[in-house]
This record gives sequence, C-alpha cells and structure tokens, in this order.
Amino acid sequence: MATIRDVAKRAGVSVATVSRVLNQNGYVNEETERRVRQAMKELNYKPNEVARALFKKTSKTVGLIVPDITNPFFPELVRAVEDVMNIYDYTVILCNSDEKVEKEREYIEVLKQKYVDGVILTTNQFAPEEVEEWDVPIVVLDRPLHERYPSVVADNYEGARLATRHLYEVGCRRIAHIQGPNHVVNAMERFRGYQDEMRALGLGDRQLVIQGNYQLKQAKEAVMAALAEHDMDGIFAGNDAMAVGALKAVQQYGLRVPDDIAIIGYDGIPLTEMTTPELSTVSQPIYEMGAMAARILIKQIEGKPLEKLHYQLPVQLVVRQSTSRRGLT
Ligand code: RIB
Repeated sequence: MATIRDVAKRAGVSVATVSRVLNQNGYVNEETERRVRQAMKELNYKPNEVARALFKKTSKTVGLIVPDITNPFFPELVRAVEDVMNIYDYTVILCNSDEKVEKEREYIEVLKQKYVDGVILTTNQFAPEEVEEWDVPIVVLDRPLHERYPSVVADNYEGARLATRHLYEVGCRRIAHIQGPNHVVNAMERFRGYQDEMRALGLGDRQLVIQGNYQLKQAKEAVMAALAEHDMDGIFAGNDAMAVGALKAVQQYGLRVPDDIAIIGYDGIPLTEMTTPELSTVSQPIYEMGAMAARILIKQIEGKPLEKLHYQLPVQLVVRQSTSRRGLT
C-alpha cells in the first residue's frame, strides 16, 4: 500500500508538502498541489485515518454504547443518533455492552484508542470517579449517570404513574408491576412511580412486584409462576418486551387479555402493534431523545455553549386493546 513518502517521491516534493496538502493547512502553490493529488491518484494512496486524527486532533467519529441491541428500543435510539451525526459528517461506532459494565469499560478503552471525538453513553453502571478521567465530551442518554454530564432522559416516574393510573381507570384493582433490573435507574424510577400511584389510589397494600429484568422470556416465565400464586387483574410492565412476555404467559395460562387481565407496557416500540390484542403502552420519544443527545454532543465537540445540561422529555399514554375493558371506559 502506498505511503506518504511514495507520494512525495512521485510528486517530487517533501513529505511535509504532501502533509500540508492532505491536512489543508499551510501554503502550497496550485501547481504543486495538482502534482501531489495526481501522485495520490496514480498510487491509489489512502491517508492513515488514525495518523490524521492524531495530527488534526479530530477523527470525525463518535462512540455510542448501548446495553442491549436485541431490544427494539435501542435500534430506534441508535438510528436517531446516526442520522444526526451523519448530517455533520461524523461516523458512529456502535458498541453493544449486554448490560455488562466490564464490557462497557473495554469499549471505552477501544474508543479512546480510536481517538473518537465524543461518546454517547446509555448506562448508569460507571462509578463517578471512573467517568471523570475520560478526556472526551460525553453525553448520557436514557439512563442518568452523573450530574456533571449533559443528559437526555424521558420522564420515567410520571410515565409509570400514568400507566398504573390507566389500569385503575379501566377497572383494575389488583395491579402487578413487572420490574426491570435493579441496577438500571429508569427501571427503579418506574417501580417508584408504580408504588406511589398505588398508594395514591388506596391500593398500597395490594402491590405485587415481579422481576422481569427487561427481558421478554424472563418476564413470561416470572408471570407464569406468579399467576399460579397470585390473583391479579392488571399488569404494568416496565418495558414493552416484558409486556409481550406477560401477554404470552397470561394467554398460555388460559386467561383472556383484557377481559381477565389488562396489560400495559412501556417504551412504545412497534412490536406492541403486532400482538393480539395490540398492547397499550407508555410511549417514550425514542427518536427525539437520540437526536437531541447527538446534537448536544456535536455542540460539545465544537466547543459551543449548551443552553442547559439536563433534558427530561415527556412520555405519552397510548391506549390499545390490551387495556380496553368490556363494560368499562
Ligand atoms: O426496553 C429497554 C429499556 O431500557 C427501555 O425502557 C429504555 O428506557 C432502556 O433504558
């Protein structure tokens, strides 16, 4: 593969001159630049991007770490980040951590070696002191990490109260909550919203919490076990994947949705329109969250001031067949 020296020799100039043409910095007369570009073309020379990144102190790449690319919530989030980054000629390096903090740490080291210009993180597993030593702009998306970093999240607490109240309003009084992982802040915010709403509705002593770990299969198995032990007439699942698992479990158990048990999820992924019955949910502004995080990161990379550090976007109740109870509203 041709090197910068081969180009310089072919064009009859110094390596420094070729470097000035490549990086468009410093004076090179028109004829010399033409000869250098001609030599690059004839030798099919490809500049070393890492070397350019070192020289220009920018790689025009950013890292995006998400915890579970198999969950449909994340591809929509990633798509939004990529669309905005591409408008500004940045390439996105996508890293899937499988909710494993060790894997997240490994990816951070890889991204440092790639000289990325910034990172968007969807995790809240790093200790503050760990994050403070990173020397690139960071934006936190969907899961709060540390108040010193700009963040874009949705209103998880209010969204959970909205879901729980909706089940009450369609007649449910024995409402279970399928909770996400204990280490995920937004799962605990939704759990807290469920608890507070149940108390506000006078159902504080009827709470039933089922651990689903944000996973469809785990939620299905856990709901199957709970149905054998508990009487419930409503289920609020902390994300749509677990709501689909709950739907499978209730139907497999021989009960009807919504007539016997109403079910509502959380996220607003398209899958909720594909089930029978279609699933009610609390829709997060997924694309808007990703796009906003990307715009904030670009501002940080370009050293522009941010109007504010932390954004919390509203969520929306989407009512479908899985909570439309016969004879009730
Ligand atoms: O469904 C995946 C969950 O993890 C979503 O609710 C999203 O908020 C992410 O944190």
